[in-house]
Amino acid sequence: METGIIAETYRLALRPLVPADAPAIAALMTPAVAARLLEWPAPMSVAQARQRIDAGRAALAADTGADLAILRGGRPIGWIGARLVAAPRRLASIGYWLGTDFQGHGYMGEAAHAALPWLIDRLALAAVEAGVQERNFASQAILEGLGLQLKARRRLFAPTRGTEEDALVFAAPAARLTLSPVAPDRRAYAMR
Ligand SMILES: CC(C)(COP(=O)(O)OP(=O)(O)OC[C@H]1O[C@@H](n2cnc3c(N)ncnc32)[C@H](O)[C@@H]1OP(=O)(O)O)[C@@H](O)C(=O)NCCC(=O)NCCS
Repeated sequence: METGIIAETYRLALRPLVPADAPAIAALMTPAVAARLLEWPAPMSVAQARQRIDAGRAALAADTGADLAILRGGRPIGWIGARLVAAPRRLASIGYWLGTDFQGHGYMGEAAHAALPWLIDRLALAAVEAGVQERNFASQAILEGLGLQLKARRRLFAPTRGTEEDALVFAAPAARLTLSPVAPDRRAYAMR
């Protein structure tokens, strides 16, 4: 199973999560981050983070999903992952987050444009989708930048909050994504 760097951008690197990432992931998962996600608790214990990492590694071994650490200066600053939700159609749901201190710098766009080509190839994806809260405009901008389009409104259950929430579902065939990975030497990003 892959453990090394699978993609690099000017500012970031991506690699499958490993058990040793658990303390960093647990520390990054604050209530403000979890509030935007369906299934992440906050506070999150190291053991809970380890469980999620193990689940991602099992998914990768079974070719049903993958979870990547987003690294800045070699340290995790966030997470991006995919899970097959309709195996016959090769449709995967993607999810992602950054620690609070790392938001607002364009990191997720940079990470997602680099992660998607690898996820699509590794999991033989034909299509991707993502659910996003109605007022999460930064995440919607990222999905639109990747070429996903708004397809539906759905009520989704958030287990950590025990509530159903309105969500927007974005989706696109893999072939219609507008991916533009930022090369490691794209100097324009040094200014941001
Ligand atoms: C949402 C999240 C992934 C965004 O990542 P980020 O790297 O911080 O994104 P940025 O703030 O740099 O902005 C990304 C884009 O959204 C746009 N944007 C930001 N805030 C916006 C707003 N309030 N209205 C409209 N557009 C907005 C930016 O202009 C940028 O657009 P561009 O790529 O065309 O320049 C990140 O803030 C995060 O992890 N939040 C908590 C968890 C989460 O929401 N995960 C996603 C769940 S669906």
